Amino acid sequence: MGKIMVGSETKVGFIVLVIFAITIPCLEGGIAEYDDFLVAQAENARKVALHSYVPDPEEVTDELNLRVHLALENATKSRRELRQKKKRGGACDASNPIDACWRCDRNWANDRFKLAQCSKGFGRRAVGGLGGPIYVVTDSSDNDMVNPKPGTLRYGVTRDGPLWIIFGSNMVLRLNQELMVSSNKTIDGRGADVQIKDGAGITIQHANNVIIHNLRITNIVPKDGGMMRDTFDHVGLRTRSDGDAISLFGASNVWIDHISLSNCADGLIDVIQSSTAVTISNCHMTKHNDVMLFGANDNYDGDKIMQVTVAFNHFGQGLVQRMPRCRYGFVHVLNNDYTHWMMYAIGGSSGPTILSQGNRFNAPNNNAAKEITHRDYASPSVWKNWRWQSEMDLFMNGATFTASGSPIKLAYKKGLVMKPRDGTHVSRLTRNAGALGCFVGRPC
Ligand SMILES: *[C@@H]1O[C@H](CO)[C@@H](O)[C@H](O)[C@H]1NC(C)=O
Ligand SMILES: *[C@@H]1O[C@H](CO)[C@@H](O)[C@H](O)[C@H]1NC(C)=O
Repeated sequence: MGKIMVGSETKVGFIVLVIFAITIPCLEGGIAEYDDFLVAQAENARKVALHSYVPDPEEVTDELNLRVHLALENATKSRRELRQKKKRGGACDASNPIDACWRCDRNWANDRFKLAQCSKGFGRRAVGGLGGPIYVVTDSSDNDMVNPKPGTLRYGVTRDGPLWIIFGSNMVLRLNQELMVSSNKTIDGRGADVQIKDGAGITIQHANNVIIHNLRITNIVPKDGGMMRDTFDHVGLRTRSDGDAISLFGASNVWIDHISLSNCADGLIDVIQSSTAVTISNCHMTKHNDVMLFGANDNYDGDKIMQVTVAFNHFGQGLVQRMPRCRYGFVHVLNNDYTHWMMYAIGGSSGPTILSQGNRFNAPNNNAAKEITHRDYASPSVWKNWRWQSEMDLFMNGATFTASGSPIKLAYKKGLVMKPRDGTHVSRLTRNAGALGCFVGRPC
């Protein structure tokens, strides 16, 4: 950079800025070199993200609350009917609206596409590989990053067009490098015990419309990178990966459901660089420090379009902080069970909007960590304007939520839709969080 000949300081500043604008996202995105294909892909991802962003996020949060209400009511009614008929079993207590959409159907294995109708919240438009062929993973190996072998998971996620990926048997996958998932894919682990462990994690970069379902992901570690296929039409050089379990970078319409996550080198779930329209539901997370990061950089206000739903998850044993940690965007944290945190549960910087409703927060015994919320890099005179709101949350063992900002407009306040269900319902709503053991021919 030393040889640039320019006439004024402003010009130098401009050039430095341009260089930074190009190189910083590249390095962060793991892309060693942007070629024409990747530039076009990033531009397209940006367009899709802007299109997926909703200007009135309250409509989406209100709608989800209404659905929780209906599903709980219905589940209670059918439980009562079962009891009156003196039938035992009740194998299927799908009391949250996402589970109620498919889990009680004993025929789920013959109707896998039904899952594509079940996402709710900001990621509600994710249909994944709906309408595409069903592809069965039969080979757990992962040896060729450029021309993956047919039968492997990497082969499936790099095909062209929609694909619904399932697993032929129980398997443990040790990924050699990040698994680059391209647009219009479902990874559906139902019916098998699928573990991704001791290797790289899953990356959804500049891709749109992905469902990740029913996996166990643990012990993800950094990998050196190298040449790899990221889509059907493109192979590129990637830098070292950080060791995140699932990483979204400029991704839209992504639904992550029923995943068990623990103990990774970096984050469990990252949603960054203008990713939006994301739902993370029914996950069970344990043994980890930095759990979920939504927005990675205080200087990147492109995350203002980030909209994420975090619902029906169980934040369990051995978690420390960031459930989630947010920047800029709008995050709906609904009906989750927070049973453990060591430092704080929900945090952020750069003025994100956080709507916390109907969660159960059980504080640790440490008196210094009773506060759920945590704000970084801002004085109270600044963060008092950040909109962080708690409603119908259940506080246990001295947990406190420090609210701030002007109220978020919610239709139920005008009696138009249902109130959120309060935190006492959480144990029922999250009972089956994490990967499910589903058997063909039985409700799951
Ligand atoms: C209510 O529950 C029944 C029995 O589980 C199910 O068949 C039906 O689809 C549910 N309806 C709604 C709106 O969830
Ligand atoms: C994904 O599917 C949508 C809808 O069919 C289509 O418009 C889009 O081009 C697909 N994306 C890719 C990268 O194939």
